[in-house]
Amino acid sequence: MSDLVHYSTQQNIAVLTIDNPPVNALSSGVPEGIEAGLKRALADDSIVGIVLIGEGRTFIAGADIREFGRMASGQLAVTDTLQRVLTALEDSPKPVVAALHGTALGGGLETAMACHWRVAMPTARVGQPEVNLGLIPGAGGTQRLPRLCGINRAAEICATGRMVGATEALEMGVLDKIVEGKLLDGGIDFALDQAAQGNPPRKVRELQDRLDHGQDSSPAPEQLKQLLAHKSRGMTAPQRCIEAVELAGTLPFDEALKSEGEIFRECLQSDQSQALIHIFFGERIVAKVPGLPKDLPHRTIERAAVIGAGTMGTGIAMTYLNAGIPVVLKEIDSEPLQRGVERIRSTYEKARAKGRISAEQFDTLLALLTPTTEYGDLANADILVEAVFEGMDLKKRVFAEMDAVAKPSAILASNTSTLDIDEIASATSRPESVIGHHFFSPANIMKLLEIVRGQQTSDEVIATSMGLARRLKKVAVLVGNCFGFLGNRMFEPYLREAQFLLEEGATVEQVDRALHNFGMAMGPLAVSDLAGIDVSWRIREEIKDSIPADIRHPLVLPKLYELGRYGQKTSAGWYRYDGRTPVADPEVENLIVQTGLDAGIEQRTFDDQEIVERIIYALINEGARVLTDHIAQRSVDIDIAYVYGYGFPAWRGGPMKHGDLTGLSKICQRVEEFHQQHGSLWEPAPLLQELSKSGGTFSEN
Ligand code: 3HC
Ligand code: NAI
Repeated sequence: MSDLVHYSTQQNIAVLTIDNPPVNALSSGVPEGIEAGLKRALADDSIVGIVLIGEGRTFIAGADIREFGRMASGQLAVTDTLQRVLTALEDSPKPVVAALHGTALGGGLETAMACHWRVAMPTARVGQPEVNLGLIPGAGGTQRLPRLCGINRAAEICATGRMVGATEALEMGVLDKIVEGKLLDGGIDFALDQAAQGNPPRKVRELQDRLDHGQDSSPAPEQLKQLLAHKSRGMTAPQRCIEAVELAGTLPFDEALKSEGEIFRECLQSDQSQALIHIFFGERIVAKVPGLPKDLPHRTIERAAVIGAGTMGTGIAMTYLNAGIPVVLKEIDSEPLQRGVERIRSTYEKARAKGRISAEQFDTLLALLTPTTEYGDLANADILVEAVFEGMDLKKRVFAEMDAVAKPSAILASNTSTLDIDEIASATSRPESVIGHHFFSPANIMKLLEIVRGQQTSDEVIATSMGLARRLKKVAVLVGNCFGFLGNRMFEPYLREAQFLLEEGATVEQVDRALHNFGMAMGPLAVSDLAGIDVSWRIREEIKDSIPADIRHPLVLPKLYELGRYGQKTSAGWYRYDGRTPVADPEVENLIVQTGLDAGIEQRTFDDQEIVERIIYALINEGARVLTDHIAQRSVDIDIAYVYGYGFPAWRGGPMKHGDLTGLSKICQRVEEFHQQHGSLWEPAPLLQELSKSGGTFSEN
């Protein structure tokens, strides 16, 4: 029998156990193993039924995503094989029961639905998450699921990719029973019962009832399409999922299945699918640090301290509280401390009012918070996170104070967004314990945590930080130390080009709209208003002596700063704010035009394509330098940082993957043109030139 699918028998039931760790994906050999087991069970007259179950932590988590590249290029026909095996399972004259635990996802749920009945543990979850990979279910999921739970619900499950818990799945008809005791025993009993009662196998493809009458309160397909056009802006797969599910109502099963296969293959060939699969694996790759032994001991983190209760400090404190880690929150005096505590309390108050946390959780969270103005109260903390104003002198003073009071095993982390971690560490007696933990605003919401390793940061402190990030439910990207690290170093040319375009004749709204339509969560100028014009101004002041005098500088931002237009916080920046809604401001447009004219900058009009190329290619060109300078470990680290920290569309794969998919020679050519037109800031990165010549990609590097 196959190594991947074991065959055994119990009480006249054949048990097919899928054993393909870690998640029992349907890799080549698994469908064939199921097929062989089925044949053997059917050939054995003593066998009255079959149970399909997964070994280890889960039932089947789906097709093997690692094989999709070969499938897309036609080298592998996994779905054809799978379809054949699923039809054979459904056609089995002996009852077949799927016994589910962990997650039955994608091809896993499709396999379960080709069985005649499904039993599951109470903790099991099912779903069709293909949409998150830019795909639709490709092995009958769009046709069998609506026959079990109705078209509306099936469309919603396929198009959103959400996981459905066992109770809900039972209620909607996807499961037939929840097993409280041992899963295998429950599966065998169920199969024996069906055999004893002589029930004919229940073939899902023949069920019609739910298709005709099984509609529910979920939005109808047309409504869902509109909802998702907004929510999953730019993504094609959600729409294609709905389209495929709708076929269940209009075509016979076999024809609809053929159409599903065609749509699946189209999606598989798409750039969006390649991009999303890159992000799926990228999320897992960034957690791995080359050169760091897996079994390195971590420092114990049971208590945290946060220094500074401003925007970031309070968000960071909530991130720890949400993970159940007690926090001492330190401020210079009681007024800002009270303000910070109030911000935390009101955030939790809103969560309680919306029912996202219970009254009990509210009390527990606040009980974990200890406000203080005394350094002495930080002595028990295992990690101290500094989030005071951005300024080297202040940071060094605060780090010296933290060093004096912290226990010897404590980690000293800085939330600085740009400053030199090594210089900060030099203010302490323990540079090996100093590290950057750069959160993104709002820190309790944004998923990215940029972890900045200093020259002397120890491996143990890095490993502890990576593990801690998982506990804090963050996606951590480990980066090197330079001005702005990975994220803000690349953001500088991105925002710079947005401003230059304004000075050359584009409008604030046009620039933001072009980038929004490209897929960015927000346009660059709206982001600048959110982050604070004063913050950008202060950062530039801090480094102004190191910027060469003969390069072009953005001219409007300092004027906005002088006018006190700090962005959202003053209800005026690049936009005027009506509450939180940005409104174009003629005063700013006049200021921009006048500034451009005064500086003798030639004025012209731009189309959206050129705006996107100027801004995104500046980002990619800097990304190439970030790679060469080893600030990012791999190009996928940049992609993950930009998707999770800067609102770059996942379906474009992050900036570097977007570069690969667009073609690096095309990008290099445009960068060279911009270099001719705009001078030294557009010097092409040597790595970009090299890859453009060799036909290589960033992802391969
Ligand atoms: N194929 C190949 N590898 C997979 C995989 C899959 N479907 N699912 C998970 N893995 C790998 C991960 O890459 C990871 O590898 P690593 O240890 O080398 O980094 C390992 O399995 C463990 O995965 P996680 O770290 O994600 O483990 P978790 O326990 O946190 O999560 C999970 C488990 C919920 C199953 C999660 O891995 C997941 O969501 N997987 C993807 C599920 C999915 O999208 N299925 C649909 C596939 S497409 C399909 O089925 C098409 C069909 O319609 C024809
Ligand atoms: P903020 O101005 O909102 O808060 C800073 C707080 O630090 C103030 O409440 C101040 O009273 C307090 N503080 C100053 N000196 C202190 C001391 N010695 N002890 C205790 N508290 C002290 O600033 P914000 O925006 O929270 O920024 C803090 C840090 O986070 C900066 O380094 C900034 O660059 C970084 N950052 C900011 C982001 C943002 O979007 N605002 C994003 C990521 C990082």
